[in-house]
Amino acid sequence: MRIDFTLNGRGITIDADPLETLIDILREKLELHGAKRGCGIGECGSCLVIFNGVIVNSCLIPAFRLEGSEILTPEGLKEKKDFPDADMIVREVLGGRRELFCSNGVIMAVKNLFTEQSFPDEKTIREALKGIDCREVGKENIIEGVKRLVSARPRRRQLP
Ligand code: FES
Repeated sequence: MRIDFTLNGRGITIDADPLETLIDILREKLELHGAKRGCGIGECGSCLVIFNGVIVNSCLIPAFRLEGSEILTPEGLKEKKDFPDADMIVREVLGGRRELFCSNGVIMAVKNLFTEQSFPDEKTIREALKGIDCREVGKENIIEGVKRLVSARPRRRQLP
């Protein structure tokens, strides 16, 4: 089937089987390798992308859902300059290890979280990261790292 959608800010048209997954389309048809194929069943978070403003596991999104959608991949995210930047996330959340299989997924999820909320509480952080299983760093270390980012975020001064 023919599918029109927006990828990283540019309109594109592809031909795909309706049940082909987004992760396979990105990696095999479009040669975008920022989202990685790990478990393939929505548990590891290595394939995270932003789909219509919501973070999703791209291994669970079939092609027929893409029509008219807007998708942001790790490649598209690199062009955005906002808080926190990817280097800061790698340093504070991933212990400085950018080469990890989960790195791009964590960066996507954290950036999306800060897009939605400036000062997320712990419950919100846990909810935002529930789709990630990064054994190399550990869930609790990731949560603590995101909490450090929240603390580092400059707060507007209150006027008297
Ligand atoms: Fe999609 Fe693991 S590959 S969640």
